[in-house]
Amino acid sequence: MHQAVKVTDDIWYLGSSDRRLAKFENCFPIPNGISYNSYLVLDEKTVLLDTVDKSVSSVFLESLDYLLAGRPLDYIVVNHVEPDHAATLAEVCLRHPEAVVVGSAKTQSLIRQFFDISLQGRVLQVKEGDTLTTGAHTFTFIQAPMVHWPEVTVTYDQKDHILFSADAFGTFGALNGNLFADQIRMESAEIAEYRRYYANIVGKYGMQVQSLLNKAAGLDIEMLCPLHGPVWRVPKKIEQLIHLYAKWATYQPEDNEVVIFYSSVYGDTENAMQVLADSLGERKVRNIRMYDVSVTDASYLVGEAFRASHLVFAATTYNNDIFPAMAAFLNDLKAHNFQNRTVAVVENGSWAPCSGKKMLEILTSMKNMTVLGQTLTIKSRLREEQLEPLQSLAEEIAASIDKADLA
Ligand code: FEO
Repeated sequence: MHQAVKVTDDIWYLGSSDRRLAKFENCFPIPNGISYNSYLVLDEKTVLLDTVDKSVSSVFLESLDYLLAGRPLDYIVVNHVEPDHAATLAEVCLRHPEAVVVGSAKTQSLIRQFFDISLQGRVLQVKEGDTLTTGAHTFTFIQAPMVHWPEVTVTYDQKDHILFSADAFGTFGALNGNLFADQIRMESAEIAEYRRYYANIVGKYGMQVQSLLNKAAGLDIEMLCPLHGPVWRVPKKIEQLIHLYAKWATYQPEDNEVVIFYSSVYGDTENAMQVLADSLGERKVRNIRMYDVSVTDASYLVGEAFRASHLVFAATTYNNDIFPAMAAFLNDLKAHNFQNRTVAVVENGSWAPCSGKKMLEILTSMKNMTVLGQTLTIKSRLREEQLEPLQSLAEEIAASIDKADLA
């Protein structure tokens, strides 16, 4: 059965959700599924904005037929060629030989890489600021390279002031009957998924996201239609989401809070970090969070690192190096161009502790990282005589939290 939800008088949502996939991009756990969004404009000309992942292609094609109701498909705007959005593009092109494919020069070359279809004579190549009028609607094309791939374009509808924003402003999670963000509870758990999506998918490209935000600032945006997650249509809420993006894109923390990330083989490093956390709590530090990096998926850890101002990394020494899960997490942060945090390091090692030095090498290779205190070294387990240096570390973190001046 077709699935179609009205967005405006002549714009329809015809995306769908996958609740069976374990990991998005075979990388990020999606316990609540994922939506693949596509939009159809029924103007004097008909315009499809992006297609969907192959997992939901059948229902998408049925919905497209239903909504077109025999009309030709005049244009397919390809804002993003990544297969979670373009996997069904070749099939739509075959079914609609009349459709002109709209995209940047890079879009065309990526389509040729992914698909053995000839688009000869049916391509409209657009560049920054080009427009397409389809009747009542005029669409402006805005380049957004590396948000999240080099070909990405976002499309602005001048009539209804809608920004079709590609991956930007998306989130993990299926759409469960409520297409619009104002119909869904948006509390810390929901925002955490926006942050986890942002940090892991485009977190590396803060500069490019800032460039897109600068372009968006010049637009009157009444609706955001991303390629994942709900549609935003309340201007004040759109402003809040853009404000969050501005923080994330500049690698500024949202919360003046402490997160402790640790690896622990037999529980002794965990014990030391629990003592540290209790000590922080006694010093009135609030909302402390602790994560065992071997237990919590790295995508959640990266999201939490993007959120908080003060981060403690505690790792066992393993094979004369950092414990593997912690090494992977730190390298993941570095790969995401992570920066601007206050950090502290604790190492454990029974005969030749060296994880602290190696963790610091990675952390200090990131931009604008402030390291608190000396690396605290534990040999096998925390001992009575180490309570004092551990409490000194807690004191230093607490003092730093007190004076931190967050924007
Ligand atoms: Fe949702 Fe970059 O694809």
